[in-house]
Amino acid sequence: MAGVKVVRIEDAREDFPIMKDLIYMDSAATSLSPVPVISAMDEYELRYRSNVGRGVHRLAMVATQKYADAHNKIASFIGGKQGLAVITKNTTEAINMVAGGLDWHKGDRVVTTLLEHHSNYLPWLRLHETRGVELCVIPPGQDGTFDIGLFEEAVNDATKLIAVSHASNVLGSVTPMEEISAICRDHDCRLLVDGAQSVPHIPINAEESGFDYLCFSGHKMLGPTGTGVLWMKSPDLSPLLVDNYMEAAGYQRYEAGTPPVGSCIGLGKAVDYLEEIGMENIRAHEKFLTTRMIEGLSSIKGVTVYGPPPGENRIGVVSFTVENLHPHDVAHILDEAAGIMVRSGEHCCIPLMRHIGTPEGTVRASLHLYNNADDVERLIETVEEISRMV
Ligand code: ALA
Repeated sequence: MAGVKVVRIEDAREDFPIMKDLIYMDSAATSLSPVPVISAMDEYELRYRSNVGRGVHRLAMVATQKYADAHNKIASFIGGKQGLAVITKNTTEAINMVAGGLDWHKGDRVVTTLLEHHSNYLPWLRLHETRGVELCVIPPGQDGTFDIGLFEEAVNDATKLIAVSHASNVLGSVTPMEEISAICRDHDCRLLVDGAQSVPHIPINAEESGFDYLCFSGHKMLGPTGTGVLWMKSPDLSPLLVDNYMEAAGYQRYEAGTPPVGSCIGLGKAVDYLEEIGMENIRAHEKFLTTRMIEGLSSIKGVTVYGPPPGENRIGVVSFTVENLHPHDVAHILDEAAGIMVRSGEHCCIPLMRHIGTPEGTVRASLHLYNNADDVERLIETVEEISRMV
């Protein structure tokens, strides 16, 4: 691929200088960015920084082309070339753009689930409270897996939208999108997929899978913070913000004002990087590490691991608790004792925390391609030591 050096997954760690000093296991919150992504953004800032879609001078032409190329790469990466990839700030903004951009009527139904991140729950709750939209919330099992029959019962002909996470940011469970997509087709409703945790880790084909909207975050897929994507099968939403591109046919219609040009180009480079390593390779690598992590943590006395067993329906997001210790205390000790960065607390999922009986939240270790088997062993050893202290 032009401009990208060939990187093997085993060597990729070299491209993430932060990993030289510590063990980063908080990629479900924000991933690290590799050097080529930072360099692509520096190149924009230092060599051709200018606005896009406006000027005709040479810098504007280069920036506009590279900005457009990044959109095309992103759309292609998720199997969505026929649709539109719109740059947003993050997944939250993308989901809110769907909630605010559809034409809602009293009595329309939204079907969502109890394992959603607040960002895929609160927009629907607001529509329920302010617009009379019916909200139906499907509970998962304790491990985050679903009885698909509950979707069949919940979705009726008044259902305008099913809004579900492809992979849970707490339990690591993968939602059966094929079955849910088939239910959508039967009832002629739209399907919004929160892909914040799946797009960075699982090969995806949005068009083949029948998604109408796929929302995800650039900063969780090796891109810069402040980037997310709303992919739409067709541009059927009203834009939330208006400017002089209101009548444009492409992504410009949904990106009012000057966009984050350098960051979007950086996200395009992140896509190149992921594709160079290969999403299948990333998936296999993370599956291997996740299996060992779950096995090791589960064998420690006083540690409870949440979510489904390792396998196809699992990503590398592993939540656990240590008996008699608050998750924040565990996270602090992991950092101070072993330089391991994890997230702790409710993970923006209070309804799910109540559902699985962890009111103080969990400790969450989440992986990306730059983690290796030594990181996982270090986590297991340190959690074992922590559990012996209490
Ligand atoms: N959604 C991100 C997480 O789960 C911030 O940590």
